[in-house]
Amino acid sequence: MDRMRGLKQDDADWRGARTWSLVFPAGEDVDQVLEAAHREFLFENALNPFRFPSLRVMEEEVVEMTADLLNAPEGARGCMTSGGTESILAAVKAARDHARVERNIAEPELLVPASAHPAFIKAAHYLDMPCQRIELADDLRADLDSARQLVGPATAMLVASAPNYPHGLIDPVEELASLAAEHNAFCHVDACVGGFILPFLEKTGVPLPAFDFRVPGVTSMSADVHKYGYATKGASVVIHRDAHTLLNHQAFFFDDWPGGMYGSLAVAGTRPASAIAAAWAVMNYLGEEGYLERARVVAQTSAALKAGISAIDGLRLVGDPPASLMAFCSDQYDMGAVGDVMDARGWHLDRQERPPALHMMVTPNHARIVERFLDDLRFAVSSHGESKGKSARYN
Ligand SMILES: Cc1ncc(COP(=O)(O)O)c(C=O)c1O
Repeated sequence: MDRMRGLKQDDADWRGARTWSLVFPAGEDVDQVLEAAHREFLFENALNPFRFPSLRVMEEEVVEMTADLLNAPEGARGCMTSGGTESILAAVKAARDHARVERNIAEPELLVPASAHPAFIKAAHYLDMPCQRIELADDLRADLDSARQLVGPATAMLVASAPNYPHGLIDPVEELASLAAEHNAFCHVDACVGGFILPFLEKTGVPLPAFDFRVPGVTSMSADVHKYGYATKGASVVIHRDAHTLLNHQAFFFDDWPGGMYGSLAVAGTRPASAIAAAWAVMNYLGEEGYLERARVVAQTSAALKAGISAIDGLRLVGDPPASLMAFCSDQYDMGAVGDVMDARGWHLDRQERPPALHMMVTPNHARIVERFLDDLRFAVSSHGESKGKSARYN
């Protein structure tokens, strides 16, 4: 324990609201709920739902609640996975196999916006699928002309992000989904980061474009409980509009070995029970009202940060991010150097490219540091922002 605590000394201070990604703190009460759920289900294994029916019930309820949140229609089915990357891999696999089996496409293709998460490129790589990248329009959302040029008879899945990680922008989901439908292709909305914040921001009155299953051509979605669902790591949900896709194209069943029937819905075999239990516990503990309360804080904090950053001479937001993810850049300052000064002051902002920018995901925990952060940012810009070329690049 001493050694562990010693090692931790150099870790980022997420509790102190110094990080802008990776951890999504929602309050000490939530921490306690998560710890209790972990303790209760520390040792069980979600590999076999017949041995631990409690886990099957909790997983089903997490998926049902998420499906409700994303306005999935009756008959939609999904499962929990270890995180956004696994949900995406599972959805892409389902699309590939659907295209092969039901559309007779020998080499199904994936079509993803240039700003989509690398998990899609990873999935294409693992699943040996050609992957085309949709260019970004001037507003930095997926460009529809580029998508129209790339989509074709071999397209298995077209992707839209709600929102994307780099800029926090929501792709034109309605248009992309209808383009996919015209070509009988699937349309996956990656709401890994948005799935548990956009629906609540919308309810608090933040104007958002349609991004979920209400859009007819959307066939699947991913939403991470371990991001704005405020669960501990290892909890995401992937949902298909059509249960058939989950069971026939995503799931894997095998019995041609001495060990009897083996089956899994996504990639993992053995799965930690505690991740499922913690996700279930936090969703039930917070309920819609708890998420709404936190979304109000996130909306106010995001608005204050956006206004504060935009008011600093020489800085501007990248695009027009509608929710709680944002990046800011400059035509004048070296953003790497600005980031270095912020690092020296104890803030951890991820670096970005095209344009060079610093990145933020706002959690309820950031409400109390807005002024301190903006003071340090003003200092960073005025003191070191122009020392071009000297910055270190790391995320
Ligand atoms: C938009 C988006 N999609 C997918 C992922 C991948 O999620 P994970 O890191 O849980 O695998 C992320 C992670 O930040 C993300 O922001």
